Amino acid sequence: MKTFLNVQDLGDLKQALAEAQEIKNDRYKYCQLGKNKTALLVFFNNSLRTRLSTQKAAQNLGMNVIVLDVNAGAWKLETERGVIMDSDKSEHLLEAIPVMGSYCDIIGIRSFAGLTDREYDYAETVYNQFVKYSGRPVFAMETATVHPLQAFADLITIAETAPQQPVRQPGKPIKVVMTWAPHPKCLPQAVPNSFAEWMVAASKEASLLQRDGSETGIEFVITHPKGYELDPKFVGDARVEYDQMKAFEGADFIYAKNWSCPGVTCPDKYGQILEDYHNLLDWTVSERQMAVTNDGKFMHCLPVRRNMIVTDDVIESANSLVIPEAANREISATVVLKRMLLSL
Ligand code: CP
Repeated sequence: MKTFLNVQDLGDLKQALAEAQEIKNDRYKYCQLGKNKTALLVFFNNSLRTRLSTQKAAQNLGMNVIVLDVNAGAWKLETERGVIMDSDKSEHLLEAIPVMGSYCDIIGIRSFAGLTDREYDYAETVYNQFVKYSGRPVFAMETATVHPLQAFADLITIAETAPQQPVRQPGKPIKVVMTWAPHPKCLPQAVPNSFAEWMVAASKEASLLQRDGSETGIEFVITHPKGYELDPKFVGDARVEYDQMKAFEGADFIYAKNWSCPGVTCPDKYGQILEDYHNLLDWTVSERQMAVTNDGKFMHCLPVRRNMIVTDDVIESANSLVIPEAANREISATVVLKRMLLSL
């Protein structure tokens, strides 16, 4: 595997989940694979989980790790070609990338969306420059529009929890609902884009999960206020239900996330908050909504703003998966790095 951005890069999901389980059983099984190989992790933005879990994953495989915080200690980087560089940006990414590539074997990139220019963000300009100019395999650690390591960890979490979900109707697939929730700041669409992309791909595989001793699939539903429609290239044919309570009925998993306007139905509002969050606090996931689920599990990628996205009671409940979900970031990153090492 030379790139990791979209679900297609991983190929067969059943095989990927089997590899994740193998790593979970023994996360040091491939500890010789990365000997004398170096992972360079480049962060244009803050991170807790991605930074720690990806370093740990590389170490599980015996790799050396270099972490670069571009905004803390490196030269400020210009990313756009053709700019007269008379600002505070001293170095162009087009020189910096091949230099970075010369010090490592695999590169991970964390670069958020600017949320002002939809075309620039959705072209994945920064990530693609690394692919083009580094000469190394490149994986996304959350880019302008996707967060595949998170989505893979989310799928692993769902797959290992699904067998315990109570069965109300035999043969019924696992119902996964992604809900928009309020937030005071404009956030990227990367996490919901990837979660939708991965759940849509997973829902095509009728025997991906186990439940009640037999194989089953996923029914995926998205709920959000009007105007927050995600890009069709990620949501595909997923059902969108604008009534949040209706969407939650019978759900086995609730995946909460805020995102700003993706600019699909209202292009001039790309990256913006469409309505004051004070008017939308009934979208905060609380026991009121969880009561209509099928003893549903609560998921969020973290970091999360309590009592905006989710109430204290729900996130602290026995049904909250946020900690094992974050722990699975080490597993998803180990599988991805293992595959990249095998491709060198
Ligand atoms: N979920 C996630 O990617 O967390 P960080 O932003 O802390 O890495």
